[in-house]
Amino acid sequence: MIKKCLFPAAGYGTRFLPATKAVPKEMLPILTKPLLQYGVEEALSAGINNMAIVTGRGKRSIEDHFDNAFELESQLSGTEKEYLLEEIKKVIEKATFTYVRQQQILGLGHAILTGEPLIGNEPFAVILADDLCDCGANGVTSQMIEIYKKYKCSVIAIEEIPFTQIGKYGVISGDLIDGTSNTYRVTNMIEKPDSHDLMNFVEDRVDLNNVPSFNAIIGRYILTPDIFGILKKIKPGKNGEIQITDALLSQAKQGKVIGYKFKGKRFDCGSVKGYVEATNHFARSLENNNI
Ligand code: UTP
Repeated sequence: MIKKCLFPAAGYGTRFLPATKAVPKEMLPILTKPLLQYGVEEALSAGINNMAIVTGRGKRSIEDHFDNAFELESQLSGTEKEYLLEEIKKVIEKATFTYVRQQQILGLGHAILTGEPLIGNEPFAVILADDLCDCGANGVTSQMIEIYKKYKCSVIAIEEIPFTQIGKYGVISGDLIDGTSNTYRVTNMIEKPDSHDLMNFVEDRVDLNNVPSFNAIIGRYILTPDIFGILKKIKPGKNGEIQITDALLSQAKQGKVIGYKFKGKRFDCGSVKGYVEATNHFARSLENNNI
């Protein structure tokens, strides 16, 4: 039903400079595997084989990573190191990769719109590889596809984020429509609010200090293709960027966005702190599996 996954990967990754001066943020490894490969494996495990990647200048190593490397393979062939390439070779065999370059870095909404020729007129998943999720056997994208099958409209993954960090996220409000699966019909959303924005957003003007957390959008979406037409029309929003949150708000006003509190753990690997936490988490899992 969802056959394609879009990976916006054109951003500058400034929080990781100087590492990201010549190396794409999406290619930074957690242990031995680049962030983007985790994302592609998550899409594959959700039954998606077609990976559409939005790249930009300086991102060519992404294409090289998801391609054969004949010299290296023949060098390792028949040696005890051959198994080290097995995992990535499986990914390359199972998935097809298409690429488009975002020529100006004008925001996530613009990156998604840049992917339109690779997606066409069908619903699709979006994975931001720097939000790394560990959900065990049932990946967050698989979970969201189940929700999409039920509601047939855009689905966004949400997580409760403390008030102190909320300015880094898109925030939603909505009505709980299914307490068992933790799904909300989204009625309003706002991108990276400051406390003044939040005061206006929270309708009954409660004391913000008494609101411990908000439902924030994380880097996983299932989008219906009408999002492209909306993205073409919207004006630059927060920070002068074309924001996907603004386009989703237009769908939400028609009751066509579901917020889903996914089951699992997310690491914000776009920040140094989250990246270190993810590294420790996956290193511990590796140690536990080896015992
Ligand atoms: P981020 O805002 O986290 O990435 O965008 P960034 O801008 O590269 O990072 P910083 O803030 O400068 O450190 C989330 C995802 O969207 C992509 C990024 O590559 C990242 O994977 N993105 C963002 C684009 O592809 N194009 C854009 O114009 C903006």
